[in-house]
Amino acid sequence: MLKLAVLVSGSGSNLQAMLDRKAQGLLDVDFRLVLSNKADANGLERARAAGIPALAIDHRQFPDREAFDAAMVAAIQDHGADAVALAGFMRMLTPTFLHAFPGRVLNIHPALLPSFPGIHGQRDAAEYGVTIAGCTVHLVDEQMDHGPIIIQAALPVPSGADGETLAGRILAWEHRIYPQALQWLAQGRLRLEGRHVRVEGSPCPDVARVPGSHCGEALVHPPLEPGF
Ligand code: GRF
Repeated sequence: MLKLAVLVSGSGSNLQAMLDRKAQGLLDVDFRLVLSNKADANGLERARAAGIPALAIDHRQFPDREAFDAAMVAAIQDHGADAVALAGFMRMLTPTFLHAFPGRVLNIHPALLPSFPGIHGQRDAAEYGVTIAGCTVHLVDEQMDHGPIIIQAALPVPSGADGETLAGRILAWEHRIYPQALQWLAQGRLRLEGRHVRVEGSPCPDVARVPGSHCGEALVHPPLEPGF
């Protein structure tokens, strides 16, 4: 069982997708803590509703990023978690944090990295005029939206879509690929080779075209496994 802390700053819909997959019996994850830098983050409410410890630590109470990160590490370790999923967490992490959970901090980004890093990925992609957009789950390193890629979903951009429309389309796929990436981590199937992440035992080496009843079609690689 993966002992996981989830860090949120806002709505927490990705957290909810994880909780829903867990409730379906698809995720070998023990949610030890949901942590936020914002006391009013809706993600904390979602955690409480699911009976998971929820904690806010206000970054503004600390003199610098390292001190804030050290406090978060202490809280996460106190709750027995040894892996971390960033799910709409809007703070950069320092080496103080990353060294506490080496190779075990994941993030979701609403663009096809390395394109459109930063906090407005969907809007930037829509304004740029891309015709294919998507989302990426990656390991976190010290640069923003930069670490080795675990899984991506690529989807067509509807003509005339603005950033908001696109964000909704992308979010539906975030909710599918993030739980899948966490399940691979829980199963101990992620192998890091330089910048490349290999999923051990991934059934098909080819790109998988996934029909999605509520969110259109996407190319997902590595392929989603049954249930995801
Ligand atoms: C998602 O689009 C995620 O990719 C980005 O922030 C958003 C968080 O949404 N990093 P939610 O809080 O999970 O609903």
